[in-house]
Amino acid sequence: MATPTPEPVNLLSPGAGSALLPQPCVLVIFGGAGDLSWRKLLPAVYNLNIDGVLPSNFAVIGFGMGAVGDPDEWFRDRARDGIERFSRQPLDEKHWADYSRSLFYVEGSFSDLRAYEKLKAKLEAVDAQFGTPGARVYYLSIPPQLVQPAVEQLKSAGLVNDPGEKRAFTRVIVEKPIGRDLESAKQVNASVAHAFAESQTYRIDHYLGKETVQNLMVLRFANSIFEPLWNQKYIDHVQITVAEEEGLAQYDPITGETTASRVGYYEGVGALRDMVQNHMLQVLCLTAMEPPYSLSADVVRDGKVGVLRCLRPFSQSDLENSVVRAQYIDGEVQGHTVPNYRHEVIDFNSKHNLPIPPSITTETFVAMRVHIDNWRWAGVPFYLRTGKRLPKRASEIAIQFKAVPNILFNQNPDVPLEPTVLSIRVQPEEGLSLRLATKLPGPKVRIFPVKMEFNYSSLFGGESPEAYERLMLDVMAGDATLFMRRDAVEAAWEFVMPVLEHWEQSRSRFLPQYQAGTWGPLEADRLIEADHRTWRTL
Ligand code: BG6
Repeated sequence: MATPTPEPVNLLSPGAGSALLPQPCVLVIFGGAGDLSWRKLLPAVYNLNIDGVLPSNFAVIGFGMGAVGDPDEWFRDRARDGIERFSRQPLDEKHWADYSRSLFYVEGSFSDLRAYEKLKAKLEAVDAQFGTPGARVYYLSIPPQLVQPAVEQLKSAGLVNDPGEKRAFTRVIVEKPIGRDLESAKQVNASVAHAFAESQTYRIDHYLGKETVQNLMVLRFANSIFEPLWNQKYIDHVQITVAEEEGLAQYDPITGETTASRVGYYEGVGALRDMVQNHMLQVLCLTAMEPPYSLSADVVRDGKVGVLRCLRPFSQSDLENSVVRAQYIDGEVQGHTVPNYRHEVIDFNSKHNLPIPPSITTETFVAMRVHIDNWRWAGVPFYLRTGKRLPKRASEIAIQFKAVPNILFNQNPDVPLEPTVLSIRVQPEEGLSLRLATKLPGPKVRIFPVKMEFNYSSLFGGESPEAYERLMLDVMAGDATLFMRRDAVEAAWEFVMPVLEHWEQSRSRFLPQYQAGTWGPLEADRLIEADHRTWRTL
């Protein structure tokens, strides 16, 4: 029977996502002139405007340095440029006229109380113009060391309302990285907690806003066939991959000139802090958590923390054998020759008159074997891998089921049957597939692996909303389900700290390399092959 094709739906319409509705407010973007605001946040708000799902009374204020000329006009130009380049839906002049009127900019330093006085005056003027009832969402898109001065000044300037305020609520979104280790994460959390209650705090991990990641809960708990199999009795292992083809610098394909670089942020941070501590562990939690007894934010978040608490701490020998890091060297990605990471760092530092570090040991690739010590997952390895400058952009969660017994169709050890695999494609081509063994038509019994496919865009049509769209709406609605609680952030740091410390101590030791455009170093293959398994080909 053919699957009925549903009417295309607006996935952001009330009832399709959060049960709560976004409430009138002013969104203040700290770091409004920055890269995230330009690429993601302003285009996301623009798309929400086009889709007609923003609260009826709403405006945006960018806050930070860097404006040239009239700050509001400058900010509108910057937003327009970001939308033209990165928006999911193209810029439409009619909507732009409406949207741009609600964009403002306040110039100032995050540690200067006078800047907050200017911000306060602007907020009051915007409230009067847009009918926003004094409600605020502060989006801290700033480096972790600036969080403390920012929240302290907000509080001193009287810009933080009591958590009990319903209409004139104050909420804060804290962007990653939350610290650069457990200690600094605790400090960031403590300074935020000084000004805001936990119920007002939304720690964002944009992977949790991706459709396919949200669908994990639906897949597991709205279908009766998966949950009984979702454990060590039936699952052999799980692979979680987040592969990116981009490196840290981007180049003009014609002139070869550097057009943008994230080296300033990434160097000294690396893939473990940038991707594993947050995005990958959050995805692991949703894959492995126990069924929550309700969908309320704290119950779901308790379930996720439960997984983090069961992660087996790395022993000294695990640090040698279960974790691999590496850095890319020159190679070719999608037909373009690209230089090595070292070169990108040297290039960036010389352009910005920064010293060239004596050794550049930042990892751009990590692979690890992780165990969850509870009854459900005892003995089931979870393999995580992530890297920059891999052959393509591809992220998936693959659940590989155990092989059938070596009888009937699986008797010949030289030609084992391909195992059943459920693959959840996070991006691109969002969807899932189930690989099954089937009989090839004909008189002989020959077995062939087939895939049952579900693809979001072909079934539902259109592009899924960007993760930031969904997440910002959730904050306006006061729904914290998809945000990380303080204990989860700290538990994730606790888990990765032994790795960071081990690498720190072995700084001068050999750092494996991989050619750009390949699937990582040989060491990563050896890690999984030691268990008689292989990485999936994506
Ligand atoms: C960010 C990391 O959090 O996620 C980046 O800082 C990474 O380094 C990005 O490229 C990946 O996000 P996405 O949504 O493109 O997979």
